[in-house]
Amino acid sequence: MPQLPAYTEPLFRPPSEAYSLILQVTNGCSWNRCTFCEMYTQPQKKFRFKPLDELEQELAAIADSGMPARRVFLADGDAMTLSFRRLKGIMQAINRYLPGLNRVSSYCLPRNLRHKTVNELAELKDLGLKLFYVGCESGDDLVLERVHKGENFDSSLAALQKIKAAGAKSSVMILNGMGGTRYSRQHAVNSARLATAAQPEYLSTLVVSFPAGTERYQEGFEGEFEPLDQRGLFQEMEWLLEGLELENTIFRSDHASNYLVLKGTLGRDKERLLATVRAALERPGSVALREEWMRGL
Ligand SMILES: C[S@@+](CC[C@H](N)C(=O)[O-])C[C@H]1O[C@@H](n2cnc3c(N)ncnc32)[C@H](O)[C@@H]1O
Ligand code: SF4
Repeated sequence: MPQLPAYTEPLFRPPSEAYSLILQVTNGCSWNRCTFCEMYTQPQKKFRFKPLDELEQELAAIADSGMPARRVFLADGDAMTLSFRRLKGIMQAINRYLPGLNRVSSYCLPRNLRHKTVNELAELKDLGLKLFYVGCESGDDLVLERVHKGENFDSSLAALQKIKAAGAKSSVMILNGMGGTRYSRQHAVNSARLATAAQPEYLSTLVVSFPAGTERYQEGFEGEFEPLDQRGLFQEMEWLLEGLELENTIFRSDHASNYLVLKGTLGRDKERLLATVRAALERPGSVALREEWMRGL
């Protein structure tokens, strides 16, 4: 009797994939060097990919269970590191076992697409792989270097443009507070420049947090990283929003790590969102904030 998937924990997925079937096609993250990210640092999360026959057994069990699976998320941290050939095999298997499928999505590091062509991405899109969550984190080269992201403005933009050219969608994540006090302004301005150049379908911000302490993070900043306080985070958000020139992007700053919840469609709602941020800055107490105990990663 085929087995339902047994996950290697911990397992992470974007908030918007809460009702999706999570298929762990890889374990961990092949890069795993970003100094802010502790998600895949435990020994059991060492990177590996799951052989196709193992995945097929899981898919057969899911199909047999009658579990409705309209949306599938490919875990873990960068399933798109797999070759086009392997991803195509996975997508064909998913389609074979889950014929009612509507959309497949995955996290995607810009470097995961470096050796994939637009035609290959379009082929995967036609098989249902339609949405990529890209952890750009910043559009500022210096900040990206400090946190060992291994990407820069140009590599991030090239990946986002490739996704668009293939007819797929991207959801970009930016980390509020990632440059600390010193680089806050340039982080905001260049992140806005990146999003404006890429025009992603979705854009979200999370507040950078350090559940395991800042020691590893400080190394990249030569010990000079000064975290932003709440006011600093709001100021950075104002600079980011001011710089964004988006035509039709769903903007969400509602992840559990945010104090100030912001949601809207940009450009349409730019002035409304800016007014909320400015009220939080100028009239503390006039805008409801998420309590510290309710925040999380
Ligand atoms: C599970 S990771 C996978 C993303 C993917 N590997 C990439 O880099 O594009 C998802 C996102 O969680 C966020 N994240 C990771 N560590 C974080 C931290 N310490 N504080 C806030 N957000 C964090 C980052 O935005 C990251 O892109
Ligand atoms: S942020 Fe993404 S690329 Fe960086 S270590 Fe975490 S999972 Fe890997």
